[in-house]
Amino acid sequence: MTYNDKVVRQFVVMTVIWGIVGMLVGVIIAAQLWLPQLNFDIPWLSYGRLRPLHTNAVIFAFGGCALIGTSLYVVQRTCHVRLFAGGLASFVFWGWQLVILSAAVSLPLGFTQGKEYAELEWPIDLLITVVWVAYAVVFFGTIVKRRVSHIYVANWFYAAFILTIALLHIVNNLSLPVNAFKSYGIYTGAVDAMVQWWYGHNAVGFFLTAGFLAMMYYFVPKQAEGPVYSYRLSIVHFWALIGVYMWAGPHHLHYTALPDWVQSIGMVFSLILLAPSWGGMINGVMTLSGHWHKLRTDPVLKFMIVALSFYGMSTFEGPMMSIKTVNALSHYTDWTIGHVHSGALGWVAMMTIGSLYSLIPRLVGEKTMHSVKAVDMHFWIATIGIVLYITSMWIAGVMQGLMWRAFNDDGTLTYTFIETIAATKPYYVIRLLGGLLFLSGMFIMLWNLWKTMLQRPAQEFAAAEPAHWGEQR
Ligand code: HEM
Ligand code: HEM
Repeated sequence: MTYNDKVVRQFVVMTVIWGIVGMLVGVIIAAQLWLPQLNFDIPWLSYGRLRPLHTNAVIFAFGGCALIGTSLYVVQRTCHVRLFAGGLASFVFWGWQLVILSAAVSLPLGFTQGKEYAELEWPIDLLITVVWVAYAVVFFGTIVKRRVSHIYVANWFYAAFILTIALLHIVNNLSLPVNAFKSYGIYTGAVDAMVQWWYGHNAVGFFLTAGFLAMMYYFVPKQAEGPVYSYRLSIVHFWALIGVYMWAGPHHLHYTALPDWVQSIGMVFSLILLAPSWGGMINGVMTLSGHWHKLRTDPVLKFMIVALSFYGMSTFEGPMMSIKTVNALSHYTDWTIGHVHSGALGWVAMMTIGSLYSLIPRLVGEKTMHSVKAVDMHFWIATIGIVLYITSMWIAGVMQGLMWRAFNDDGTLTYTFIETIAATKPYYVIRLLGGLLFLSGMFIMLWNLWKTMLQRPAQEFAAAEPAHWGEQR
């Protein structure tokens, strides 16, 4: 029996490529916030169209390819079977690329449902549904035909990610099409807002968190060459996280037309969410106990440990921002953007990069990437880039919040809005610099990927994980 790694390889390559594309668009919009004339008065280069292109590309193309690719690798290794329905897995790859290309064309052209992270119009939504069902069949089919009775915890997290995204996608995108390019959502008013942010927050919880925790539970012990710190904690972590996340969405709608008690529930569940999030982070970090010395020589582990640190930081910051009085300052400011990217770059991108650096050599039967030095260089460039990005946004955000709420003795505003924008400009330049650094790291990764994997003929491998791998403690 050999594993079906072709589809894994395809997803890995596209993760890096879409990462570069999505982050490049991020750099362009970061530059536009500094110099708006960089849209050259061309509609499809305008900020309003490129911003959703950035979010869709980094979340669904970069993050999506990483999640689907790694899940199809992990599920085979931990279930000791070849992927169920290989042809369907190939369809998942090509179907997902078609979704991404349709998004890349339709968003700059201005076709949008106007819902954040759910901008794509109904024909693309239908395609996503078909591809996602096929993905679920491949993943769960492999679990069903597994040759070990136990289902390793990483698969639980991947499973929760697959099921929840299906539910969120369908419920939030229910709409009435008026032609091939335009539809109207079936919800209205405050209900529409609440469904949208139930979706939005759980997209964070299940797309940007649960799936990457799955990666963490497989690749951190793999790279550290030891079991998960506490397998029991990983199960508690799983149930606590999926139980709590669903109710936190209203923190995106503080001080809106949403009933006050719903906002308060969102706040309370967000505060509770700190516990499972930190439980997971501690479990990941402590998996290195007994292996800390490896950090000196293994930059891949450095990516993972920094990712976990940012996970801990953003899941502390999030609950704080969900407190109504804190949100009164942070909402609408760049503090939110800082929070987003400490999660998105610090956690999601760093965990993806670390996991891929761990995975790529295994796909060609090697122990490390072609150049470990280049991995180390990538690590430092990326880390400095993130620090510049989020510290500049934190300072800018708190400054904006304070300037907007400053009053003179006679009750007039101390600052005009344009003064707050002018004060923010230097921070936009620092953020741009941080983004450029992070993006250049991705090019180093592409070169290393080329040298390690793409220059060699594809091979199929047979080695499985030991039956109780990863869960001995
Ligand atoms: C080179 C790296 C990146 C740069 C320069 C960058 C830049 C930006 C900029 C300028 C914005 C718009 C901010 C605003 O409207 O004020 C943005 C938004 C966003 N980015 Fe990025 N980004 C990068 C990487 C990423 C990655 C890897 C992810 C996800 C995995 C991500 C997720 C998001 C999200 C979710 C938003 C929307 C935030 C919100 O609406 O509050 N970004 N990014
Ligand atoms: C315990 C965990 C977390 C909680 C309680 C939380 C809470 C929050 C809060 C209160 C906001 C601001 C809402 C607003 O004022 O509009 C926010 C925004 C956001 N957070 Fe988190 N956060 C958490 C973790 C994360 C992580 C790990 C990520 C990314 C991987 C993330 C991504 C985002 C995004 C993308 C937004 C912007 C949404 C938008 O307005 O477009 N969060 N979060």
